[in-house]
Amino acid sequence: MATPAVPLSLLLLFAILSNTFADPDLLQDTCVADLSSGVTINGFVCKPSNNVTANDFFFDGLKNPGQIISPLGSVVTPANVLNITGLNTLGVSLARVDFAPGGVNPPHTHPRATEIIFVLEGELEVGFITTANVLISRTIMVGEVFTFPKGLVHFQINNGAGNAAILAALNSQLPGTQAIAVTLFAASPPVPDNVLAKAFQIGTMEVDNIKSGLASKY
Ligand SMILES: *[C@@H]1O[C@H](CO)[C@@H](O)[C@H](O)[C@H]1NC(C)=O
Ligand SMILES: *[C@@H]1O[C@H](CO)[C@@H](O)[C@H](O)[C@H]1NC(C)=O
Repeated sequence: MATPAVPLSLLLLFAILSNTFADPDLLQDTCVADLSSGVTINGFVCKPSNNVTANDFFFDGLKNPGQIISPLGSVVTPANVLNITGLNTLGVSLARVDFAPGGVNPPHTHPRATEIIFVLEGELEVGFITTANVLISRTIMVGEVFTFPKGLVHFQINNGAGNAAILAALNSQLPGTQAIAVTLFAASPPVPDNVLAKAFQIGTMEVDNIKSGLASKY
């Protein structure tokens, strides 16, 4: 039987559309995560639909500022599928980040999501670095919005005199975070010193200094 001719442009369009979603598209109305199931799939298995309630879609954990205890002067409060089980398969989540004056949310990436932030309070210098190593950066004020493209390294710092806070929306139920400094210098088991020394063109003593500095704080 002859294969029906599908224009290449149509195939390309489907390929592009199917990649528009950061997480796979859903196959039913809801799939509230059963976090206690031992079965691992791409996401979480659904709990029985006759056991679904409004509370599976509710979370009040972003109401108040998070408690800043980190030496970085910032705290991230996630609201992802681990906090709102109803987000399973929906491809979306939120986070709130609170900053003391001078506080920084250090360079990090979300491997599974683009992020868009809204400034709740204060002002921040924000930026991301492209794969061509160009820094795209500016100051944003309360009520303003900025975007960090999927996978790119980005940061926020509160250079203002008062506290600052942002609300972040991400197009993944579980965006994942890799903070560059911690990922490289506080991994377990550790990334070998000679790998980091060559990568950063420094001595292994300096590598050890950075590792022990981070280890004492995380
Ligand atoms: C339904 O929810 C209740 C209360 O959370 C739980 O005890 C019960 O095991 C659930 N039933 C099923 C079939 O998951
Ligand atoms: C969100 O879920 C994570 C992972 O279970 C947990 O560590 C964190 O405390 C939760 N956040 C809130 C505000 O309950």
